[in-house]
Amino acid sequence: MSTILSEDALKNKTTFIAGGSSGINFGIAQGFADLGANLVILSRSQEKVDAAVTALTEQGAKAIGFAADVRDFDAIEGAFKKSHEKFGEIDCVISGAAGNFLSPAVGLSPNGFKTVVDIDLIGTFNVFKASWDYITKPGASLISISAAQAIQPRPYQAHACAAKAGVNMLSKCLALEWGQAGVRVNVISPGPIEDTEGYDRLVPTEELRQAAKKAIPLRAIGAKKDVANIAAFLASDASSYVTGSVYNVDGGNELGNASADFLTPFPR
Ligand code: HXC
Ligand code: NAP
Repeated sequence: MSTILSEDALKNKTTFIAGGSSGINFGIAQGFADLGANLVILSRSQEKVDAAVTALTEQGAKAIGFAADVRDFDAIEGAFKKSHEKFGEIDCVISGAAGNFLSPAVGLSPNGFKTVVDIDLIGTFNVFKASWDYITKPGASLISISAAQAIQPRPYQAHACAAKAGVNMLSKCLALEWGQAGVRVNVISPGPIEDTEGYDRLVPTEELRQAAKKAIPLRAIGAKKDVANIAAFLASDASSYVTGSVYNVDGGNELGNASADFLTPFPR
């Protein structure tokens, strides 16, 4: 997957990706592999982790993986320790593990709400906190993967909206505290990205997909490489003075509904 940076922009830099075995986060791993990075992939399923590591190795990267749950702090800390033994200091940490499903709030059990907050928000705290002893200081880049739902309320996603709002604020708080150690913390907030589990779950029908596309200012659904490009920028020295920022990769989606029903077409 080609990115905006030079071929060796991440050469020998080690990136740890929580939730990196599929979808958007695996797309980031593939983009980083093309730029020379070493990769650590973590997610719950051993099978998915093994498949991701095999694919990245075949792509030419040095890659290892761990099957662990971001809700288990000790397991995450153990994975960082082993990654450090293998590759040395970790240069970039991406917290992208997430769970989501559509459910009206009245039909959502307390445990359903808690599960999503535990994975998305507390999982992000666990990943960043567990990384601390093993990251490059100064110089490390930490990136959380959020969503437009962090600032835009959406029906049937109270759990995910609340969790992602927390991810944005947590990331900014860590940027504030950890800047003095030379550690940068930024957020990527993707819009709908095609060919992913999240898109399939949240925009499941062709009718909804056409409507979603129509409402986005750039009139397009995003691709995994769009997110990988911004992640590569944030992991690289090109962004060395950038911290506490939220990068929307969403075709302008967060600006609100831009469909022709609301906008006057351009005069011709
Ligand atoms: C209502 C549900 C539910 C559903 C689960 N629950 N699915 N409630 N509607 N569709 C409830 C269960 O009944 C249970 O509560 C509680 O949630 C925990 O369910 P488990 O299945 O035990 O949880 P777990 O095995 O930990 O699985 C987590 C999961 C699952 C989130 C529920 O879907 C998952 O593993 N998802 C990971 C993959 C994923 O979601 N990828 C897309 C990310 S997309 P009770 O009360 O019965 O015990 C994304 C989009 C971005 O994040 C934009 C959004 C911000
Ligand atoms: P995905 O393929 O399901 O990615 C989620 C990843 O997290 C998987 O690798 C999954 O692997 C892992 N994971 C889930 N729960 C975990 C846990 N408890 N512990 C450790 N790993 C866990 O979905 P995606 O759509 O690409 O989403 C990736 C990220 O982008 C998420 O943060 C999501 O919120 C965000 N996002 C997506 C979209 C979109 O359009 N797709 C839009 C906005 C934001 P295992 O099953 O092996 O654990």
